Amino acid sequence: MPITTKLKAVSLGVSLALAGLLVGCNQNDSDPLVKDDAYYRGQAEAMVARLTLSEKLDLLSGPGYGSANGAINVKQDVPGVAGYINGVLRSADGIDIPALKLADGPAGVRINANRDGDSASYYATAWPIGSLLASSWDVKLVKAVGEAMGDEVRQYGVDILLAPGMNIQRNPLNGRNFEYYSEDPLLTGKIGAAMVNGVESNGVGTTIKHYFGNNSETNRNQINDIGEPRTFREIYLRGFQIAVDEAQPWAVMTSYNKVNGTYVNERKDAVTDLLRGEWKFDGLVMSDWFAGDVANNAYKQVLAGQDLIEPGNVKEQLQQFIEQGQLDEAKVNEAAIHILTQVMKSPSYNLLAISNSPDLTAHAKLARQAGAESMVLLRNEAAALPLSASSTLASFGINQINTYKGGTGSGDVNAASTTTIAQGLAARFPVNEALQSYYRDFYENNKVYHEGQFGAKGYYTCAEAPISGDLEALIASAATTQQAAVISIGRQAGEGADRSSDKGDYLLGDDELALIDAVSSAFHAQGKKVVVVLNVNGVIDTAQWRDKVDGILLAYMAGQETGHAVADVLSGAVNPSGKLAQSFPQSYASVPSAGTFPGEDTDGDGEPDDLYYNEGIYVGYRYYSTFEQAVSYPFGFGLSYTSFSYTSPAIASNTLEGGSAGNLVLTATITNTGAVAGKEAAQVYVTAPEVKLKKPLIELKAFAKTAQLAPGASEQLSFTIPASILASFDEASNQWIVEPGRYSAYISPSSDVSSSTPVSFTVSKEIVVSNTTPGALALPAGVDPTSVTTVTR
Ligand code: BGC
Repeated sequence: MPITTKLKAVSLGVSLALAGLLVGCNQNDSDPLVKDDAYYRGQAEAMVARLTLSEKLDLLSGPGYGSANGAINVKQDVPGVAGYINGVLRSADGIDIPALKLADGPAGVRINANRDGDSASYYATAWPIGSLLASSWDVKLVKAVGEAMGDEVRQYGVDILLAPGMNIQRNPLNGRNFEYYSEDPLLTGKIGAAMVNGVESNGVGTTIKHYFGNNSETNRNQINDIGEPRTFREIYLRGFQIAVDEAQPWAVMTSYNKVNGTYVNERKDAVTDLLRGEWKFDGLVMSDWFAGDVANNAYKQVLAGQDLIEPGNVKEQLQQFIEQGQLDEAKVNEAAIHILTQVMKSPSYNLLAISNSPDLTAHAKLARQAGAESMVLLRNEAAALPLSASSTLASFGINQINTYKGGTGSGDVNAASTTTIAQGLAARFPVNEALQSYYRDFYENNKVYHEGQFGAKGYYTCAEAPISGDLEALIASAATTQQAAVISIGRQAGEGADRSSDKGDYLLGDDELALIDAVSSAFHAQGKKVVVVLNVNGVIDTAQWRDKVDGILLAYMAGQETGHAVADVLSGAVNPSGKLAQSFPQSYASVPSAGTFPGEDTDGDGEPDDLYYNEGIYVGYRYYSTFEQAVSYPFGFGLSYTSFSYTSPAIASNTLEGGSAGNLVLTATITNTGAVAGKEAAQVYVTAPEVKLKKPLIELKAFAKTAQLAPGASEQLSFTIPASILASFDEASNQWIVEPGRYSAYISPSSDVSSSTPVSFTVSKEIVVSNTTPGALALPAGVDPTSVTTVTR
């Protein structure tokens, strides 16, 4: 940190302390950017006391896109950021608060790569998408990615990253699932916390989003999620709660949708009572862009406890509501204090120098490693993979040319380039050039351009090449000349729209199925293997075709290094250790929310209005395991090129009887029983007794990943389950409780716990972990809970 910055922060602290204004100053003098919110809050309070109402309202009211739209006191602008927090400039009184720059997003910092009149480029690393990172089940890896991502935020002069996305993958068709981590809240929370801690270690902020219930994109600005408080607390809020608890992000972004009839950003119970009251969040809360009834009733968002309205331009509106007595200046002061508490930690406020030259080469290496290590090997019959480096490959499918680095919309990143799967394979294996050139030509002649939305770049899609005479001949000849076939299948999706359950999206299209059939029969006839690579935004059908091929690698979208990362895994340079963070169902119809997604059109305008969360807490594997529904691949599942044994599952300590602060510590020994080195992600699922509350058959309560284990090597893993994580939510008493009785914990390679020997423990009396706000998030008056939650036992 530059010495001037340090001096500035220290001298401000001293002068405020002298003036008797500093509240709870325990600043670490050696590093003024250390997270000490009491110190920054003290400074913010003192500053707010000096500001006029007009200046305070400028802070609350985000300006439009781009500094040209009137952002106040922008210093060192960064073109392409998604928004600003206005600054304040009153030179005569020595007040000079620069505007903060806020940029998307979950797969890396999204800024313009080029600037007018500037020959330099400002590319950022496109990291693996959230769903892929979560599939690593590796908090250390995700934190390392966060550190590097945050370094780009910092070096490019951005103050707050608008990420990570932490909504729950309730339904496979959510177009934005790629930005999110999992169908499970514990995994979401732990991975989210690791990302926040990694990014923020650079002295920049993160924004966990979209709080909460933004689990679909169709009519996202109006959709009304209807569900019971227990459903929301246990599934949709818990990940956010864990991230707040373990990482205290600088900011939270509220969502577009309504919950039980009211916009989340107008819900005091959500924004103030839960977030700040129960969870002790002390950062700033901002709206999603143009969210809610911002045009008419922005004051309701402030009353609910939201601090910043983006990009609202709502200053005059708020002023009027104050004049009419509907908004108290004290609320404005509190919001301004929340905002300035974060502003005062920021690089812009502290005038930190920016390099504009992060180490993109080192970051590309880490992106490639993170991508490869997180990919999920779904199928590997007769050890079809890995392919030896000398294997000659026949590479099929348009997606090898049109490889997707990430999803579309604000979660996109302006990276310098993307390595396609065709390029990645060609860099590692001898490939059949005639085939690659066939696909390159087909792509050039058939690609379709889609305009970018939400400020993001446009993108191309291309239908699969049908089996023509030419392609048939190429398949026949490749089956004789090449040693193995790789078929790449891709799916693009993104912000602003959901996917469809039809052919070509959730289901494979006819041409894709025909390609799998033709290649499999030609190669199998020669005794050769066929491997499918899925470069997809989210879940697609696998049940219909998986038995036709020998190997399936779920690559998701691994960012700019996708092609190399795929080749690393196919060649065995990286032994895959990813496991599914979302279930792969037997069919779309078997998804518990298939009947309600994306909602009911109640006013006949062709758009859904009400979205019933009628499966309640039975989301993903909680549903499939409890109701004994077959899946194509279970949550937590993933193969390796080696094998592992799980032995000596045991309870290392149990302080649960001590009450709400107690915990249970389990251990197990994981041994690499195969022939190559590898890592294993072990998971703990708990079956809990049912006293007052029904529960899913199993729930994930802890997980851990081994280091790279050499063949024959072992590692003892330790899993800590705090009472708060073991607890369920009791609506009748508004409490999180651990019910008494006998529990079984399965330390297991996946949510299929059938091969694990459970460890049992008993809780002798009910533990009340916490009391919560009575009636928070209640169903609208008169709505019968049994008409809402219809999936019950
Ligand atoms: C998205 C947010 C994003 C914001 C700014 C909104 O449309 O929902 O996730 O951070 O735009 O780009």
